[in-house]
Amino acid sequence: MSDSSTANKTPPAKMTAPKIRALKGDRKIRMVTAYDHPSARVADRAGADIILVGDSVANVVLGRGDTLSVTVDDMVSHTAAVATAEPRALIVGDMPWLSYHSSREETVRNAGRFVREGKAEAVKLEGGRKRVEMVSAVLDAEIPVMGHLGLTPQSVNAMGGYRVQGKQAGVAYELISDAKALEEAGAFAIVLEAVPDLLANMITDELTIPTIGIGAGVGCDGQVLVYHDVLGYGEGHTAKFVRQYTNLSDIAVEAMSAFFADIDSGAFPSDAETYHMPAESAEVLEDLNKPHTSDLMADEAMER
Ligand code: KIV
Repeated sequence: MSDSSTANKTPPAKMTAPKIRALKGDRKIRMVTAYDHPSARVADRAGADIILVGDSVANVVLGRGDTLSVTVDDMVSHTAAVATAEPRALIVGDMPWLSYHSSREETVRNAGRFVREGKAEAVKLEGGRKRVEMVSAVLDAEIPVMGHLGLTPQSVNAMGGYRVQGKQAGVAYELISDAKALEEAGAFAIVLEAVPDLLANMITDELTIPTIGIGAGVGCDGQVLVYHDVLGYGEGHTAKFVRQYTNLSDIAVEAMSAFFADIDSGAFPSDAETYHMPAESAEVLEDLNKPHTSDLMADEAMER
């Protein structure tokens, strides 16, 4: 007999790049990063539209100071872990620095690894007009592309640090041209990171594809934050645009301390957390383990 509470529920439809694109003007798009099976499950159960396997894995998982050291191998491995969660959300793999900078062939080969080995359903790459040729190459290989403009962390050395971008009119105007170029090339959405809200609003109004903001104000078509920032899982500096909704680190330390206290006191493991042997087997074992007469005689002989 089927359970009436679940029988009529159809699972929510899988998100795709065209569906994300079509959400513009309909409702806000929810995006968050994830890097493994459990974080993908949390994001998906909470209702994410897009899970970005971000190269921010370098900062929040691997403990590094920037994103420049992560490789395609690292990113594909994390993307594959996320894909095992079979999320309803669209899985976007973040192409790392130098994986889409040298040639169309190498760019397509790397993007293809995200799809074939990582089971990504789209890739993201940083930059505007400079990267349009590579965006087109990936699109020609039938892989949807998400753009990323503003503070692009892979350009940290060229930008001279992690700084808000587009505060000056000239730079802001360049960013508008970059956004239009990405749209024209065929990107299905663009992340706008750390730019003034006025600029983000102008880009959002001018484009027919969605903008997804991180530190770009409330006017974008969607918002994204890093998983560990939302949940307060990790220590160290967080940007002005981060809103932390809980403190998982403190909750985890409290739970772990309780475990260690139970080890110290002997309260762990309890009888219910322990395996027991059936009584008959215990009897046989005790009998088997008793010293046998022949063994006793041998021991006595040895002592003489
Ligand atoms: O890698 C990442 O987490 C990102 C987001 C900040 C958009 O690119």
